[in-house]
Amino acid sequence: MEKSSASKKEISSREVVMADHDRLKTEIAGLSISNPVILASGVMGTTPGGLSRVASAGAGGVTSKSLGLDPRSGHPSPNVVEVAGGYLNAMGLPNPGVEEYVQELRGNDIEATLFGSVYGQSPEEFRRAAKLLAPEVDGIELNLSCPHAEKLGSAIGTDPRLVENIVHSIAREIDKPLFAKLTPNVADIRKIGKAAEAGGADGIVAINTLKGMAIDVTTMRPILGNKSGGLSGPAIHPVAVKSVYDLYERLSIPVIGAGGVETGEDLIELILAGASAVQIGTAVATKGMSVFKELNSFLFDYLNSRELSLSDLVGKAHEC
Ligand SMILES: Cc1cc2nc3c(=O)[nH]c(=O)nc-3n(C[C@H](O)[C@H](O)[C@H](O)COP(=O)(O)O)c2cc1C
Repeated sequence: MEKSSASKKEISSREVVMADHDRLKTEIAGLSISNPVILASGVMGTTPGGLSRVASAGAGGVTSKSLGLDPRSGHPSPNVVEVAGGYLNAMGLPNPGVEEYVQELRGNDIEATLFGSVYGQSPEEFRRAAKLLAPEVDGIELNLSCPHAEKLGSAIGTDPRLVENIVHSIAREIDKPLFAKLTPNVADIRKIGKAAEAGGADGIVAINTLKGMAIDVTTMRPILGNKSGGLSGPAIHPVAVKSVYDLYERLSIPVIGAGGVETGEDLIELILAGASAVQIGTAVATKGMSVFKELNSFLFDYLNSRELSLSDLVGKAHEC
């Protein structure tokens, strides 16, 4: 008797785990993903070992640090400074180079959907980096949006024609879903999103950091080694919500939201604005790796209590 009731209990708890799993499962641009909470590029993803740890902590997807053709040491320190509502960083894209990273990836078992982020100074550099990385990852993210690396990133991501060309040259050469990560440092993010879609992007990631600066009133000099940097964290969350809302309205391809998500409410807000999944960057540093399980559990309870599926929630704020 005891044995059979114990096994019943085991079965029912297994069923609950399966139900949890299924409710949060989603698909973005043909990629199946166990839950919509994804590690953003640049935080914990400098090595594949870091990505593995984040995957084990419950992220449905993980994104590598942005990788270029050659190793880069990044900007002089200080390269991160805490400001009201978040952080300013000017890391300057330090990375071991895409070929070295690919070697390191081969020895790692990452139990989450894996996005590889690349940058370049020209369409050709983007294309070569993406081609080298694509066989090792599930999806490619183009960093068209770094605000603090001269000639890289947002210098490219503010020009719709360049964005379309870069996306187009890569989309026809790789057989993995291609995501364009956009900068909010533009007059109208919808134009850049449209250009990426026209170039053949399978999805958009929005947003990268906002341009910012902090000045030390004692030394009377900019604090960051690079003088200016990119603002992340709660301060940029409303900008992310508006960007995702606008992109969702204008585009047919899915949008992955990013920007200042710390709490379950922040996560839901981006989904209601139109995000099919949400990336977490700064909150991994401020709240620790438990943030992935916390956000998923909040989302699960929110959906369960309203008898909604995740797809019911995506873009729901547009219905009014
Ligand atoms: C320290 C740091 C490094 C980052 N490095 C990258 C990067 O290499 N590539 C990239 O596309 N975004 C990078 N980002 C931007 C994040 O991926 C994310 O888009 C942004 O920080 C907004 O999300 P958050 O407010 O949750 O951090 C970085 C952000 C931080 C804070």
